[in-house]
Amino acid sequence: MVEVVPKLVVDGLTKRFASTEALSRIDTEVKAGEFISIVGPSGCGKTTFLRIVSGLEQATTGEIRLDGAAVTRPGSDRGFVFQQDNLLPWLTIMDNAMIGPEIGGFASPERRRATQALLKLVGLEGFERHYPRQLSGGMRQRVNLARALAIDPEILLMDEPFSALDAQTREIMQTELLRIWEEGRKTVLFVTHQIDEAVFLSDRVFVFARRPGRLQEIIDIDLPRPRPLSIKRTPAFIALVDRIWTLIEHEVRASVMEELA
Ligand SMILES: Nc1ncnc2c1ncn2[C@@H]1O[C@H](COP(=O)(O)OP(=O)(O)O)[C@@H](O)[C@H]1O
Ligand SMILES: [Mg+2]
Repeated sequence: MVEVVPKLVVDGLTKRFASTEALSRIDTEVKAGEFISIVGPSGCGKTTFLRIVSGLEQATTGEIRLDGAAVTRPGSDRGFVFQQDNLLPWLTIMDNAMIGPEIGGFASPERRRATQALLKLVGLEGFERHYPRQLSGGMRQRVNLARALAIDPEILLMDEPFSALDAQTREIMQTELLRIWEEGRKTVLFVTHQIDEAVFLSDRVFVFARRPGRLQEIIDIDLPRPRPLSIKRTPAFIALVDRIWTLIEHEVRASVMEELA
């Protein structure tokens, strides 16, 4: 059956912080099961956008609709993975992964079994009783991912989840994320400032610009799936990365110079 209603609708979304126009009139839609990446220079509103979708932040005008219902607060239909792992050091990996269901009051034995399966899916079978300090950075980020999936969300929101990882671990996590996504086909919004990461993962890339923060352009990533890491060396891949870089190069340079000043 053809899905007619989009998963996510962004309808005239604007966000102001005092005099800062963090997001200026965003209108777009995301289909169920789509993998969307968001790229753009520092300060263009990527995190703010994700926080509004998550319900942690309120829009100034406009709204976000998930499955037709306006988002007003956080809910178990949305899972969030942040840049830093925010695991609780005194809880085991299993208990950390179960925080969402625990807080939401739906931590049934079935849910524990499902979470167990998720830990296996992210490659952490056998680590359930370990504590976060016993795990590497890459492993902790896998726990974060399992935790976000443990509430069985409709949409997964990821804000630069791999940026604290070294280059090799990051590439492994990219392929792992795609494998997990192929299995569950969640709708994903993935923020990154690495353009090649965005191209590698996504069906479409939302290119944001700043001052005011806005959705400048949407790039279709028409590369075949499944995608091996070697696709990053193909001319089609490199052309897509170049095209996106050309769109944001000027603004990225400007934002870097401001940060240095
Ligand atoms: N809570 C806040 N209060 C005031 N200004 C904010 C707040 N959060 C973000 N901003 C401002 O909004 C703009 C967008 O920020 P952000 O969404 O963090 O951008 P990005 O994630 O793309 O780097 C920036 O100018 C930032 O300083
Ligand atoms: Mg950010």
